Amino acid sequence: MKKVYLLISVMIFAAAITGCKKSENISAAPAANAPQTAVEAPKAVEPAPSAVVDELKPTQDELIIEARTNFEPIPLNVEEGYKLLKNNTPTPEKFELGKMLYFEPRISKSQLISCNTCHNLSFGGDDYQQTSIGHGWQRGPRNAPTVLNSVYNTAQFWDGRAGDLKDQAKGPLQASVEMAATPAYVVEVLKSIPAYVELFKAAFPGEADPVTFDNVANTIEVFEATLLTPNSRFDQFLRGDSNALNETEKKGLKAYMDNGCVSCHSGINLTSDGYYPFGLKETPEARLLAGDKGRFGISEAEGDEFAFKAPTLRNVEYTAPYFHSGLVWDLGEAVAVMSSSQLGIELSNEEIEQIVAFLKTTTGEMPKVEYPVLPASTINTPKPTFTID
Ligand code: HEC
Ligand code: HEC
Repeated sequence: MKKVYLLISVMIFAAAITGCKKSENISAAPAANAPQTAVEAPKAVEPAPSAVVDELKPTQDELIIEARTNFEPIPLNVEEGYKLLKNNTPTPEKFELGKMLYFEPRISKSQLISCNTCHNLSFGGDDYQQTSIGHGWQRGPRNAPTVLNSVYNTAQFWDGRAGDLKDQAKGPLQASVEMAATPAYVVEVLKSIPAYVELFKAAFPGEADPVTFDNVANTIEVFEATLLTPNSRFDQFLRGDSNALNETEKKGLKAYMDNGCVSCHSGINLTSDGYYPFGLKETPEARLLAGDKGRFGISEAEGDEFAFKAPTLRNVEYTAPYFHSGLVWDLGEAVAVMSSSQLGIELSNEEIEQIVAFLKTTTGEMPKVEYPVLPASTINTPKPTFTID
């Protein structure tokens, strides 16, 4: 008897709670047909006290002051990247289409390879390969640099042979060891898919025949311009937060500046954008050069032999393996190679560890990219081919 009574009273109690909750919910949310006056006016949203403000706060911290003479934080609003585009007016339509084409494998000959295959936005904007692997499993000659923050580069590629991102994007689409397509093939694929034709019309209103190879590159450039990585701990430090770096990282930053890494890796993207012989002071191990003469291949100027663009060092912990030849996997080893080859000095192990600790503070917030849904192929869409020309 007692047990049953207990059970019943527990049930009644539970029902009472649930009922109570329900009635609370009802009173909290104004009914749809409640008169306007009963609805409380929404309170103005106050910025959270911790919200980051895009400004350099006044500071007495000497290390921050010195760092500010060499570096600049990446703007918090990634659309600031648009301001760097030349001869290309960004619009939301171009951005959306450019994002789709960045992830679109059907514009490669095998229809397996997209920009994202080698510049994977899930980890650092590159491919984690010594040198890139493209069409028909062929290996290209150079390591893939990251696309992250690449809108800041004054020229693209290890040898600077492309002036901007839209010029650059036409390279891999056509390279036989990368996507192995032709401009005509790319246009044929896209025109075979009506949804793409509509998207091109929307992105290039007023153009009679907007599905062109140039416009493909143009939209990809708009998308890439937003692939910035703001708000790294290093940027927080530059903005004036002395506590954003720990003591080891601060020592690393100091060593990086005092030893002259800043002469080639400084500014907003931790690169001077210049070309320097790999081995300015001491020739590195021959295997690291991999017989690649770099910028000499385009300029044929004597001083350009084995000269390469100083790469960005932002997010560098993600972009192993290092150098154009991709033969160094350990960041500490890359720093050691740099100090001897570019500066002619030998850093202690402790200094190398500190510099590595500092470099890891440049990892920023990765672009939040919603994976696009691509339109279905039609019967007219060319089929994948794997032959190697
Ligand atoms: C098969 C791998 C592969 C594919 C696919 C590929 N890339 Fe690359 N990308 C590379 C390699 C390797 C380099 C460096 C080549 C060089 O410097 O000679 C590079 C360089 C770049 C650079 C220059 C970055 C810098 O710092 O100089 C950008 C930007 C870029 N690619 C964007 C793209 C876009 C956009 C696509 C798609 C249209 C694409 N890539 C497709 C491998 C690839
Ligand atoms: C005179 C210019 C110069 C100086 C000084 C210099 N670097 Fe470099 N750095 C380069 C060039 C050029 C490359 C690309 C070399 C290559 O791959 O052929 C490079 C590549 C790197 C890489 C590999 C990045 C990648 O993504 O592959 C790291 C890491 C690096 N440097 C760190 C440093 C550090 C740390 C210092 C100071 C100890 C330093 N560099 C000093 C010009 C310089």
